[in-house]
Amino acid sequence: MMRRSHVLLLILISLLFLSISPPWEAEAWGKEGHFMVCKIAEGYLTERTSAAVADLLPASANGDLAAVCSWADEIRFHYRWSSPLHYINTPGVCTYKYSRDCHNSKGVVDMCVVGAINNYTEQLYSYGDSTSSYNLTESLMFLAHFVGDVHQPLHVGFEADEGGNTIIVHWYRRKTNLHHVWDVSIIETAMRDFYGDNLTTMIDGIKMNITNGWSHDVDHWENCPNKRATCANSYALESIHLSCNYAYKDVEQDSTLGDEYFFSRYPVVEKRIAQAGIRLALILNRIFDGSSSDDGKVLVQ
Ligand SMILES: *[C@@H]1O[C@H](CO)[C@@H](O)[C@H](O)[C@H]1NC(C)=O
Ligand SMILES: *[C@@H]1O[C@H](CO)[C@@H](O)[C@H](O)[C@H]1NC(C)=O
Ligand SMILES: *[C@@H]1O[C@H](CO)[C@@H](O)[C@H](O)[C@H]1NC(C)=O
Ligand SMILES: *[C@@H]1O[C@H](CO)[C@@H](O)[C@H](O)[C@H]1NC(C)=O
Ligand SMILES: [Zn+2]
Repeated sequence: MMRRSHVLLLILISLLFLSISPPWEAEAWGKEGHFMVCKIAEGYLTERTSAAVADLLPASANGDLAAVCSWADEIRFHYRWSSPLHYINTPGVCTYKYSRDCHNSKGVVDMCVVGAINNYTEQLYSYGDSTSSYNLTESLMFLAHFVGDVHQPLHVGFEADEGGNTIIVHWYRRKTNLHHVWDVSIIETAMRDFYGDNLTTMIDGIKMNITNGWSHDVDHWENCPNKRATCANSYALESIHLSCNYAYKDVEQDSTLGDEYFFSRYPVVEKRIAQAGIRLALILNRIFDGSSSDDGKVLVQ
């Protein structure tokens, strides 16, 4: 018979294993990707926008938007209706059309990541209006998350393989699926190889590239002539193109993906995280500080 202390130890060990198996394995940039997107956005909010965001955040966030950037993933099985809002499926083609693709599996229109970004943006415009019946805390947490998701290329992927979820691959020696490679593995490998396995260092590295290497591109990333609606539709179109040209390219069932794939794809991932951060800041500045003279655009010097 096992001694009681051994039984306890076993329980403790199994609890430990349960708690470290990643709960975000489903679909979305992993926790790290979303955290980085929100951290980058935070750095570019105007004073008025920061104040409104702080006002709406739940107490659990401790004033930090990044702390609740994965909230939408945590509740997606509780709010079942919200699950299709994380992605878009195309019928196996390298283009995306709102009228054809933005709906849930029952055909209800607007129920996709682009529809959701526009929905929660519109709701947040009612901030300060005491007759608003929306829970704007949720609207903000959804918006911050979905702007990240629409930039993850495989969140605009093919229906038949569920955005790469059913394509089983080996990431170096580890078995996983292509969607997970783009949500998590590329980020974790880059973090370990280039940034001393330190998320803060990685965020600083991406911020450095925004102010140095990409400073001329930022103006283009922010180009959104729509005054009130967002440009999420264009971001989704960029994603399906990146899915075809980078994510799916040269990958088959059971492919082994190693250095060659990693070194040609991580720059895409880092740039998408940077773009998502800049664009989230733009959307929030336009909502909460529409009077700002630069039209919500972030200033990168
Ligand atoms: C818009 O937000 C409301 C409130 O969360 C939700 O019930 C509805 O399904 C959302 N629609 C879309 C397209 O996001
Ligand atoms: C708004 O949503 C948050 C997060 O789900 C919840 O904690 C809070 O109680 C809600 N507020 C109201 C007034 O329902
Ligand atoms: C990560 O790096 C930052 C400085 O860039 C440092 O303050 C922090 O302690 C590091 N975190 C870990 C877990 O090493
Ligand atoms: C970021 O900038 C560094 C230094 O210029 C460069 O070596 C690196 O390739 C850039 N990263 C990406 C993803 O472009
Ligand atoms: Zn998501």
